[in-house]
Amino acid sequence: DADYETIAVRIAGRVATITLRRPEALNALNLRMMRELVEAAHRLDDDRAISVLILEGSARAFAAGADIKEMADRSYSEMYLADWFTAWDRLTAIRKPMIAAVAGYALGGGCELAMLCDVIVAAQSARFGQPEVKLGIPPGIGGSQRLTRAVGKAKAMELCLTGRMMDAHEAERGGLVARVVPDDELGREVGELAEAMAAASLAALLTIKECVNRAFETPLAEGVRFERRAFHAAFATADQKEGMAAFAGKRPPVFTHG
Ligand code: CAA
Repeated sequence: DADYETIAVRIAGRVATITLRRPEALNALNLRMMRELVEAAHRLDDDRAISVLILEGSARAFAAGADIKEMADRSYSEMYLADWFTAWDRLTAIRKPMIAAVAGYALGGGCELAMLCDVIVAAQSARFGQPEVKLGIPPGIGGSQRLTRAVGKAKAMELCLTGRMMDAHEAERGGLVARVVPDDELGREVGELAEAMAAASLAALLTIKECVNRAFETPLAEGVRFERRAFHAAFATADQKEGMAAFAGKRPPVFTHG
């Protein structure tokens, strides 16, 4: 942790929690935070002792967007040559489940970062939006694409074209959020969700995440074939043998994550 300035990492059992910590800027995402978060996530992804990642902000803001002050005066060629924001795509290579625990603002890059995670759990205070239009820019970390896939065209168009924020319940109704919980229970609820996942076979978690993500990248028949092959391959793992033997023996499984 001493290595990081803009995030903190803590580990409990097989669950790692990354906390964004630029509270004075409502966790605005600057270059340093992007580098640190991407690096930490990959380090945890490579650690066989970890199964699940949680990403959280503060009580007031998950993240209020990309750091506007850092970008404001840059030229087109600076943005293009630096390929601004493209390093965020590296989070899509994380193979373990990532849960976003969102309280307060998740705006612009903050909403996009939550959508780069696999499951979003929202506190009642959560507010989601893509307010870039108000700054004279479109979203830049995939908001126009992932929000549209999550909530459909009508709501995504409305949100992106006006910058309106939606509250946690609207986000849940729209399908962006898995569940809404009271603010003071967010940490515990997300912890329990992560524990439930981490109790499963790591290989199964990785395979299932890969299969669900295929649904966004392939035609249906292709995705179903991909899933079937992944299903067959699971029979090569010790965890499949253990999971099924435990069921037959009416006992809890003890997975070796191999
Ligand atoms: N970038 C840089 N600084 C930010 C920031 C951002 N995205 N969001 C908030 N801050 C800073 C504020 O400038 C302020 O700093 P100072 O105390 O030094 O003035 C501090 O955080 C607290 O913010 P406010 O005083 O504004 O707090 P508020 O409660 O009055 O308002 C808010 C909260 C409505 C979220 C407001 O801060 C806001 O509108 N923030 C910007 C939201 C936004 O436009 N996000 C999109 C950014 S662009 C983007 O993300 C592009 C992309 O697609 C990746």
